[in-house]
Amino acid sequence: MIRTENLSRQFQSGREVIHALRDINIQINPGTLTILRGRSGSGKTTLINLLGALDKPTEGKIFFMDQDITKLSEVKKDLLRKNNMGFIFQSIALMPLMTAYENVEFGLRVAGYDKEKRKKRAEACLTMVGLQNRMHHRPQELSGGEQQRVAIARAIAHKPKVVFADEPTAELDTNMGLQVVKVLKDLVEEEGLTVVMSTHDPSMIDIADCVYTLEDGVIVDIAE
Ligand SMILES: Nc1ncnc2c1ncn2[C@@H]1O[C@H](COP(=O)(O)OP(=O)(O)O)[C@@H](O)[C@H]1O
Ligand SMILES: [Mg+2]
Repeated sequence: MIRTENLSRQFQSGREVIHALRDINIQINPGTLTILRGRSGSGKTTLINLLGALDKPTEGKIFFMDQDITKLSEVKKDLLRKNNMGFIFQSIALMPLMTAYENVEFGLRVAGYDKEKRKKRAEACLTMVGLQNRMHHRPQELSGGEQQRVAIARAIAHKPKVVFADEPTAELDTNMGLQVVKVLKDLVEEEGLTVVMSTHDPSMIDIADCVYTLEDGVIVDIAE
């Protein structure tokens, strides 16, 4: 589904050059859960932003379904993200005044679904993440883990091929974090979704199909 070729990303910080990523070669197969593991500052977010076409590499290529996306225009990258990708972030960015259902439904409205389809799909996605009984609660009436599950439902609602989750469990306790990862794993196994998730938490890695360990912008270990 995704493959990189000698991917590098440098940042200029004053007179200093920061090598956030160096010569990254990874392959993400469809229908798998891939974990990018590493300490803070190891390059996880930079890599997710590149794979999700949110940032441009300094060098190297990124193939998304055999197309080099580093060559696409901004308009085409927007379309690629809109049609094929979903995103979940560490800080759960739900709309505070909307219920769980409305948060998911709103994303579908933006994606151009008609009213009836929106209702069906929003309910189906919230059910998939185990929130069928919490649909009409607002974020503040939900636990952190439940909120992150709403964010997952929102990220998968438009049927993306791949979902990127950047430290989705970082603000949750271990138990809730594991529940959230389990939901992602179920979506991989039952819906054939492809998930790329970053974490610094070693207790998460057993659940992955493939684990890339990053250290100072370099892949130091690949475990399948
Ligand atoms: N926009 C930026 N400008 C300068 N340096 C950056 C920028 N983004 C990330 N970095 C640096 O790149 C390295 C990797 O950062 P990041 O990908 O955020 O790591 P992680 O997500 O694993 O914590 C760090 O040294 C960070 O300070
Ligand atoms: Mg990060």
